[in-house]
Amino acid sequence: MKKQQLSIISKALHLKAKELAIIAKEKGKIQQELFVSNQRLEALMNALPVGVTFSTDATCEHITGNPAIIRQMELKPGDNISASTHNKTAVGTKLRHYMNGRLMTAKDMPMQRAIAENREIGPMEIEVVLPSGKRWLMEAVGAPIRDSYGNIVASVAVNIDITERKRLDLVKETKRLLDEERSKVESIADATHELRTPIAIIKGNVDLALLSPGKNPKPARSALRAINYEIKHISSILSELSLITSKAWELKNRILFEELHLKSLIRVVVERCKALAYKKNISIQTGKIPDTTVLGDKMYLEKMLINLIKNSIIYGATDGHTKIDIRKNNGYIVIRVIDDGIGISAEDLPHVFERFYRADKFHSSGGNSIGLGLAIVKWIAEVHGGTVSAESVKNKGSVFSVSFPIKTVA
Ligand SMILES: Nc1ncnc2c1ncn2[C@@H]1O[C@H](COP(=O)(O)OP(=O)(O)OP(=O)(O)O)[C@@H](O)[C@H]1O
Ligand SMILES: [Mg+2]
Repeated sequence: MKKQQLSIISKALHLKAKELAIIAKEKGKIQQELFVSNQRLEALMNALPVGVTFSTDATCEHITGNPAIIRQMELKPGDNISASTHNKTAVGTKLRHYMNGRLMTAKDMPMQRAIAENREIGPMEIEVVLPSGKRWLMEAVGAPIRDSYGNIVASVAVNIDITERKRLDLVKETKRLLDEERSKVESIADATHELRTPIAIIKGNVDLALLSPGKNPKPARSALRAINYEIKHISSILSELSLITSKAWELKNRILFEELHLKSLIRVVVERCKALAYKKNISIQTGKIPDTTVLGDKMYLEKMLINLIKNSIIYGATDGHTKIDIRKNNGYIVIRVIDDGIGISAEDLPHVFERFYRADKFHSSGGNSIGLGLAIVKWIAEVHGGTVSAESVKNKGSVFSVSFPIKTVA
């Protein structure tokens, strides 16, 4: 070999050696980078509070997961949880998965489906039954993993434990249904209670008519007119009851706001209550009524005032007086029903607007009192944007006030 040729070969070898040194350096760098990124991935997997499962092949023969899923599944690190495995001793074959109550097979699982369908699958709600019998509910999303050429090489799934969330949803839904039922029952109780007022008024009118001298038809006719009014009232309560028992019931939406002449409203109410008052010889006195119209529901406002006046009679003194004082105050109508009856003790007074609360069981309306009248008064005042209050001293009479805006619809 000539000297010149040797020099060329030596130079070429030198260059090759340099190239190899560069490649070796690059390889070392890549390996280092790979090592760091693997470490990062592992740290991330360990820290993730949600379960991540991944396969090491495109057949899902072997699936394992991060510490979160290992804990959740009561596994040991490295356990194969694949449902597709042919290894009959693998934990995966001992797990049961259900969707909508149906037992799932390996090919129904999100990771297997992600590979078979070459797309992201889920979220799917899956109930998992562990070999220990423990059950939990997971929300799983599966996705295929592709190499740089786009070929599927494995798959991954994120599995979130939703057992607690579902339990809370169930508790919330049960509470909502119970509240709905309770409010329905309460409203049926309210409406049933309301039936008793017109019936009592009818009874009062019948008694009144029977007492009147036989040849004079006038009192009997006026009693019949009053009875007729109450019968209309009863039928409207009954239609309310049938609404309450129907599913779409929403009483609040059924309040019919209209312009009402205050004087007529009070007159009608007082007239209706006279039949109740005469038995105890109680006079109903109405002061000057402001000449105004108010915005409200006629039927409910009548109910509200009748309940207050009825109480002033039931709990009022025989031969006593019920006074109705009505004033305008800053855009509000304030109606006060004042009696000189048995009064209410300081302990009972804060509770009288509660449903079924009766302060004095012995002075109830002949055993008919159920303690709903004032709760209804409060409800009606409030749906009219108003308030209620009571002042009373035991054995010194009571003052019940309702106040609601003249114009505003609540
Ligand atoms: N004017 C009043 N004077 C004295 N006590 C009263 C008066 N109004 C109400 N109370 C007391 O408040 C309680 C609750 O009244 P509320 O009208 O809610 O029910 P109730 O009269 O017992 O029964 P009902 O459901 O038939 O009206 C009464 O049981 C009574 O003890
Ligand atoms: Mg009452």
